[in-house]
Amino acid sequence: MSSVKIGLLGLGVVGGGTWDVLQRNATEIARRAGRDIEVVAVAVRDTAKARALLGDSVRISTDAMEIVRDPNIDIVVELVGGTELAREWVLESIAQGKHVVTANKALLAKHGNEIFAAAHERGVMVAFEAAVAGGIPIIKAMREGLTANRIQWVAGIINGTTNYILSEMRNRGVSFAEALADAQRLGYAEADPTFDIEGIDAAHKLSLLASLAFGIPVQFSKAHIEGITSLAQEDIQHAQRLGYTVKLLGITRARPEGIELRVHPTLIPADSMLANVQGAMNAVLVHGDAVGQTVYYGAGAGALPTASAVVADLVDVARLLNAAPEQRVPYLAFQHDAMADTPILPMEEVQSAYYLRLRVDDRPGVLADVARILASAEISIGSMIQEPAGDHADIMFLTHEAREGAINGALSQIQSLPFVRSAVTRLRVEA
Ligand code: HSE
Repeated sequence: MSSVKIGLLGLGVVGGGTWDVLQRNATEIARRAGRDIEVVAVAVRDTAKARALLGDSVRISTDAMEIVRDPNIDIVVELVGGTELAREWVLESIAQGKHVVTANKALLAKHGNEIFAAAHERGVMVAFEAAVAGGIPIIKAMREGLTANRIQWVAGIINGTTNYILSEMRNRGVSFAEALADAQRLGYAEADPTFDIEGIDAAHKLSLLASLAFGIPVQFSKAHIEGITSLAQEDIQHAQRLGYTVKLLGITRARPEGIELRVHPTLIPADSMLANVQGAMNAVLVHGDAVGQTVYYGAGAGALPTASAVVADLVDVARLLNAAPEQRVPYLAFQHDAMADTPILPMEEVQSAYYLRLRVDDRPGVLADVARILASAEISIGSMIQEPAGDHADIMFLTHEAREGAINGALSQIQSLPFVRSAVTRLRVEA
């Protein structure tokens, strides 16, 4: 059988890794795919660098669109990133009847619904295993392995950069800035690291996981997103003393009223599985009604782990090249005409437990006043610790589960009490 012809857009960290894996494992990959997978053309900015890596057998161009329109190419692999040019290349690839493999979570979070609709119309595949959690086959698990289940929730550490930063801040006590610089040096961070540290990258990935879990359109714009930039070292330490670790989690959960879709720093029990995911590793927990809780763990970034996912998609697409579109696995796990319009819940309606930290004057009645406000908002206190802080005191509360809207109301009242000396810190707690 003739080889499957690949046009590769981008030869950066992931593109270079993909080339490497396709070369080093060519025989194993062909045994699995049933035919050779051959990169015939690559689009890059720096042709000299590409020539040094690829040798003479691959056509190198600086014009991605020219590769997209090459009739000799079966699959376009988009590894450039960004959302606008990438959207044009992907939509044109689809219009040309080519299948697409992409690692671009920002593209799919923003334009996924348009891209999947176009691909459905044209009868081509769009595969994106590398877009979520790097080398972990979480898309495969959710699209295929868990199809018997009603998924109840998905929670995960899906950004390696922030997990690396939080691990370093907790384990070595280093500052946020120092840990971020290390993460960038190690190549974990996005080109724009604000995507990592502000939780945007995790929300891109979470919005794809929510679609796969619940059969809803991709709704990144409705995600609640908080990053780790304002997280204080002292909260990491207080959390530790209370038996918790702070992680940036992506959480999506089906409630009777709608779907929670949120990314934020979260206190989780220090002995839980996710709390022990260190460095740039990722982990995703998926809870299905039949299977119960399942765990997926591995490298969430880096050249070879991400290339592992890209090449797995190439093998999948190669195996199904001649299959009728209706025999292929649907893009978002559910059939295109069976997507649901279940609403995404506003954050005010989300239920969570909370960690609160207040700096207050250390005098009689302070605790009683705060407790009264919490009680009148029907927020139940689970535990509390107090520590001296110079002339003042720091009080840390852990609450039982409450509605976010109730917490917001109580916090604005607490904040205006005359003895409260700094902004109240609020972090969510998950068991
Ligand atoms: N910047 C991402 C991360 C890379 O830190 O997880 C993989 O998407």
